[in-house]
Amino acid sequence: MAGNEICKVGIETLDEALIGGIPTGSTVLMVGSSGSGKTTLCMQYLINGAKEGERGVFFTITEPLFKLTKNMEGFDFYDKKLIESGMVNLIDLRIISERLGLDAEKYSVEDAGALLDILQDIADELNVKRLVIDSITALCYRLQSPEMIRDFIFKLGSSLAAMNCTTILTSEVPPKTYKFSQHGIEEFIADGIIFLEDIDRKGDLIRTLQVVKMRGTPHSRTRFAMSISSKSGIELSPLLKSSRA
Ligand SMILES: Nc1ncnc2c1ncn2[C@@H]1O[C@H](COP(=O)(O)OP(=O)(O)OP(=O)(O)O)[C@@H](O)[C@H]1O
Ligand SMILES: [Mg+2]
Repeated sequence: MAGNEICKVGIETLDEALIGGIPTGSTVLMVGSSGSGKTTLCMQYLINGAKEGERGVFFTITEPLFKLTKNMEGFDFYDKKLIESGMVNLIDLRIISERLGLDAEKYSVEDAGALLDILQDIADELNVKRLVIDSITALCYRLQSPEMIRDFIFKLGSSLAAMNCTTILTSEVPPKTYKFSQHGIEEFIADGIIFLEDIDRKGDLIRTLQVVKMRGTPHSRTRFAMSISSKSGIELSPLLKSSRA
């Protein structure tokens, strides 16, 4: 492993729980239901990295770029200059598919392969240290059969393992299910799993975050309370016993 062995997320309590950060070169599945904070956390990870001089790329397939940037502008951590200077690159995979002449809704095996090649070329060319795909669920949704999905996920895993960067893949799951992915395969290519979950306390939804797995580090498996605010973005704090589900 060249350079830093640890990739700091830049969220203090999370880095402490990970004993410093994500081991460099890992692929991490960020799991959560709709609105659980996956996109915000991933953007904070990229922006924090860029502030430390690590270039990042955010591949989105769920939100158009104008919406993504509009939402992120609501956070103090978001720094437009880092986008403009190319330290954080925002790329809409649907636009890439369009340019490749692919069907926007349905990918063939060849289409998926071509998209993977482009993804790898972009990461190599920009020499990115941090990569995000938001979301692997929406990407797989465009594949037509379980066999294609399995094949694609394993190919993606091999490509990411060969790249010189630390990756977060977001995974959308229904609320109140202890499931890490839609297809049950995505976790096989993941070195780490971070699980975001709402718990109900007297009618209020409390956000929580838990590191379920992270290969290569004796991390904490504590469930933390998680807050999202304009001022601080995502922050973690101890989960009070009375808040536990
Ligand atoms: N500026 C802000 N300040 C505080 N909270 C915010 C702010 N902007 C968004 N949020 C909260 O973050 C939530 C959305 O977070 P985010 O988009 O990261 O979730 P997500 O898991 O990516 O959702 P999805 O699955 O829909 O893509 C909103 O529902 C809102 O509760
Ligand atoms: Mg999102």
